[in-house]
Amino acid sequence: MKILVTGGAGFIGSHLCDHLLAQGHEVSAIDDLSTGSLDNIVHLHEKQGFTYVNDTILNKDRLELLIKDCDTIVHLAAAVGVKYVIENPLLSMEININGTENILKFANRYKKRVLVASTSEVYGKHLHAPLREDDNVIYGPPSTMRWSYAAAKLIDEFMAFSYHRTKKLDVVVFRCFNTIGPRQTGLYGMVVPRFIQQALRDEPITVFGDGQQTRTFTYVQDVVEAIYRLMSCERATGDVVNIGGTEEVTIIDLAERIKALCRSNSEIVFVPYEKAYGRDFEDMMRRVPSLEKLESLIDYSPNTPLDEILGKTIEYYRSKVT
Ligand SMILES: NC(=O)c1ccc[n+]([C@@H]2O[C@H](COP(=O)([O-])OP(=O)(O)OC[C@H]3O[C@@H](n4cnc5c(N)ncnc54)[C@H](O)[C@@H]3O)[C@@H](O)[C@H]2O)c1
Repeated sequence: MKILVTGGAGFIGSHLCDHLLAQGHEVSAIDDLSTGSLDNIVHLHEKQGFTYVNDTILNKDRLELLIKDCDTIVHLAAAVGVKYVIENPLLSMEININGTENILKFANRYKKRVLVASTSEVYGKHLHAPLREDDNVIYGPPSTMRWSYAAAKLIDEFMAFSYHRTKKLDVVVFRCFNTIGPRQTGLYGMVVPRFIQQALRDEPITVFGDGQQTRTFTYVQDVVEAIYRLMSCERATGDVVNIGGTEEVTIIDLAERIKALCRSNSEIVFVPYEKAYGRDFEDMMRRVPSLEKLESLIDYSPNTPLDEILGKTIEYYRSKVT
């Protein structure tokens, strides 16, 4: 099969390209390198079956040719990261809404199966756990820019399901929960790479808020395996499914674990949200996925223990941090 991976030079995208090629598929990747990096795919340079296109998914002519030429699309390209979205609100909306619309329009024109990446952020500020795919969404006001990412991804989901219902487009939406592992950058607000880099440099580990907010972290290889299985899962067509881990951890516990695993002398300090993100931020206190649907669809759910994921990620950053 020939698979188009949008955002293929990004964190999840580059691991997906590796996996698809290892399974014997042809892969073309499109990326504008806004948050991705050529370093993530440099090892694929000249690899048989791999093509990289440096362009934006907003370039409709280029996108149409790529979609026409593939069998399946995995749409990962997006403006990602709380910090990035708050700093680039207009561009983020344009990419996350218009970009996805372009993908769906051409996927429908050429009748290609498309998997669309959504996010646990679409659930908003729930306190209960686990979050099921049919839960309500609860957002703060539009004056708080943080919610624009969740709202844009929710519109992507509505567009995907509208194409499915009205045009029978073969579409699957997956909602990733916090995904971590090698190649993730800490530049745009991702907590684990930021903590690891601070710990390895013996700099203060900066916990935003009181650190009592919780997350479940998922290993990127597990996410890629789940996406791969969903690609051929007929029963997932027209549906939305969570992909996430099960080990709920507070952010202060995460900071302490990373400090210990890095054998760091860093101090752990608390930074108020307003200082970190300005007035455009409001946090979600809890985010735990229900994996019932994922397991029933693909007979698989992410299960790499958090300390093992952190160990592998720390190893990666040790080779990068000077
Ligand atoms: N990493 C996570 O924890 C997580 C959680 C939930 C959802 N997701 C979703 O997974 C997908 C991949 O995220 P990631 O974590 O790999 O982040 P990432 O930033 O590494 O990947 C996104 C990629 O898209 C590219 N891109 C952005 N705008 C583009 C454009 N206009 N045209 C072409 N390429 C463009 C970026 O350069 C980057 O390589 C995103 O859709 C994101 O919303 C990720």
